[in-house]
Amino acid sequence: MNVIDLRSDTVTLPTDEMRKAIANATLGDDVSGEDPTVNKLEKKAADLTGKEAALLVSSGTQGNLIGILANCQRGDEIIVGENAHIFWNESAGAAALGGVQTHLVRNQLQGALNPSEVSSAIRPKGNPHFPPTSLICLENTQNMSNGGVLTVDDTKAIWDIANQNQIKVHLDGARIFNAAVYLETPVKELVKYTDTLTFCLSKGLSAPVGSLLCGDGDFITKARRWRKMLGGGMRQAGIIAAAGIVALDSMIERLRDDHTTALRFSDGLSAIPGIIHDPSTVQTNILFFDVDPTIGTMSKFVGELEKMGVRVHSVYGRIRLVTHRHITQKEVDIALETIAKALKSIAYN
Ligand SMILES: Cc1ncc(COP(=O)(O)O)c(C=O)c1O
Repeated sequence: MNVIDLRSDTVTLPTDEMRKAIANATLGDDVSGEDPTVNKLEKKAADLTGKEAALLVSSGTQGNLIGILANCQRGDEIIVGENAHIFWNESAGAAALGGVQTHLVRNQLQGALNPSEVSSAIRPKGNPHFPPTSLICLENTQNMSNGGVLTVDDTKAIWDIANQNQIKVHLDGARIFNAAVYLETPVKELVKYTDTLTFCLSKGLSAPVGSLLCGDGDFITKARRWRKMLGGGMRQAGIIAAAGIVALDSMIERLRDDHTTALRFSDGLSAIPGIIHDPSTVQTNILFFDVDPTIGTMSKFVGELEKMGVRVHSVYGRIRLVTHRHITQKEVDIALETIAKALKSIAYN
């Protein structure tokens, strides 16, 4: 059986061009700054994001963690959206390794933070009862908020408040290129109102490993030390960087295809009785839906789908589909038929 895997865009495999680039990469010891392929990728990432410097890290999680560690002191507080990956899915690294407390604020439907709520969450300075607020973390696209996109204005509104309070802004831009493609806005513009950011090579861009942490030169110097401390200094990391360069050179524009297949899914889901889905929320390659509880339970439905060869992710009471390079219109149509069948099957049992 051919499995249609819609759990995440992290399941994408490297392209043939990436495999060739990996085989032919010029290498050196990156811990000493001597891997030319890593240096090339870091320069490319800095140029693309309009930041002074960039650092190759092993994962988005490591990039965000180092972003927090290098921007904060122990005992500080960071403001984070309640749907943020940093809060839900990064093993409480900020608390465990940085001694940093998380202050949650609400995410709006598509992920943006409300500037006045952020403003109210900032601790007054000089009161010994309060931890200093040192960082606001944004996420674009916002995975758990329907893969929603933050506009330049959404980010700037938070940046203005941060600046008034001498607080830094870190962006979890794991899927920032999806946002850039959706908004038809260069990434550099989208991240202009952030101090530091992480983006991932290993999601829709299809590289096998790696993320980039970007910021000013001093920040990246600090980040390099944190990376070493966390065991993330990698030697001939050009093997990884080579695929990353191909990802940045040739895989960004094709993310549009993933948005088109997500819309096809959304149309199809909306037409299946028993599926609860709001098509107006679909902006990028992530979409959510529910099963009408009078038909059956979500876990039974997801189990049934899996048996029929369609893998989806159930996330905090909702079902998430993520489109990616291995999902063409054909897979969408088969998956939609399978979803309708699985619903019937749980309803009659
Ligand atoms: C929004 C977001 N941030 C960060 C990450 C972490 O990336 P990684 O899996 O490379 O640690 C993910 C992973 O799915 C993500 O969706």
